[in-house]
Amino acid sequence: MFGSTGSVGANALDVLGEHKKDFRVQGLCTCRNVGKLAQQVSRFKPQSVCVVDETKVTRLRGMIPNTVRIFSGRSGLLEFAAQNADIAFMAISGIACLEPLLVSLQFSRCVALANKESLVVAGKLVRRQAKLHNTLLLPVDSEINALFQLLKTVKKDEINRVHITASGGALYACTPAQLRKVKAKQVLAHPTWRMGRRITVDSATLVNKGFEVIETHEFFDIDYDRINIIVHRESLMHAAIELNDGTFFSCFYEPDMRIPIEYAFCYPRRNGKIRKKGIFNGKKVQNCTFGPVDFKKFPLLKLVLAAAKKGDNALTVLNASDEVAVDSFLKERIAFTDLYPILEYVYTHSPHRKISTLDEVIYWDTWARNKTKEYIEKKCC
Ligand SMILES: NC(=O)c1ccc[n+]([C@@H]2O[C@H](COP(=O)([O-])OP(=O)(O)OC[C@H]3O[C@@H](n4cnc5c(N)ncnc54)[C@H](OP(=O)(O)O)[C@@H]3O)[C@@H](O)[C@H]2O)c1
Repeated sequence: MFGSTGSVGANALDVLGEHKKDFRVQGLCTCRNVGKLAQQVSRFKPQSVCVVDETKVTRLRGMIPNTVRIFSGRSGLLEFAAQNADIAFMAISGIACLEPLLVSLQFSRCVALANKESLVVAGKLVRRQAKLHNTLLLPVDSEINALFQLLKTVKKDEINRVHITASGGALYACTPAQLRKVKAKQVLAHPTWRMGRRITVDSATLVNKGFEVIETHEFFDIDYDRINIIVHRESLMHAAIELNDGTFFSCFYEPDMRIPIEYAFCYPRRNGKIRKKGIFNGKKVQNCTFGPVDFKKFPLLKLVLAAAKKGDNALTVLNASDEVAVDSFLKERIAFTDLYPILEYVYTHSPHRKISTLDEVIYWDTWARNKTKEYIEKKCC
């Protein structure tokens, strides 16, 4: 379990807590939150743990039994990933997930992938590695998981278009004047999902939806012009497929990450222990709304989709720039409305190059981080 102390990781452990007879947690990995990790160790009793921040090892050693092996640092993370497992659950945030993911694809029978940045910046590399080692790659992200479930029911040449939904995030109803003054706290109050900080900000700019369009393209090999976004504020429908005879299949469930996580753990069977109540029991579905995306209101979504169609280093650059800029916004160094000009500047000032190796991904990631920091220092502070 990679990223066990994060929002998705904690949800995944919650699911495993409900399926105690069927699963044993072999290892837990985090970056620095050793307090939470120690609690998880006491509950799930793994054989090994990994804490990437080496300065936390001594503290952790005093908190968990001596029998639990501790891996640490970047090399420890890759060693931890090189253990054989039935399922590797990847919920580390950001590009930091890419290297352990590539290693896990080599050593695990199945990889359940929650992290989206890896597919965004290195979709081809990830797919190639899964194919090479014959490892089953399952999507956990709710929209992609919903599409996975829907697409299993049809043949590829029967599909006209696929649709994924967007809640629109916490600021959907804000005017441009209100957006200029918005604080991190408001953005983090997502109306339907409880998630990590970066993805919650990315949901408000719809960068996250752009990333999901890329995940859809990479996972299912579907052309970008066949992927549509529907604004659906209630987050009950996650995806739909439109077939060539006009039939439309959709996938609904409560906005609760434990549902797609449980599906991935139990795949190919269904063994629902999390949700017993159907969403049609109440009035929720009656009040559902569906509409098109206003690209003028979400210029960052437009930028991400333009970068996706280029298929070169553009996505690596945008992802890194977004991570740095969102972090600055969360630390209140820049305004919410600074995000677009920053990303647009870095994107338009990056030379376009093909990317085909991990080293090239890391090179452009570092380049974009530096460029973004430089720009923020000069223009925003
Ligand atoms: N949250 C959701 O509902 C959701 C839904 C779909 C997809 N996703 C995707 O899932 C991923 C995780 O999202 P999240 O919301 O769970 O993030 P989060 O709450 O910020 O958690 C991130 C996790 O990754 C660990 N981590 C961070 N940097 C690391 C590093 N360099 N090396 C090793 N571990 C590191 C953190 O450890 P510490 O706690 O020690 O810092 C934490 O366990 C993202 O790619 C996100 O887009 C999330």
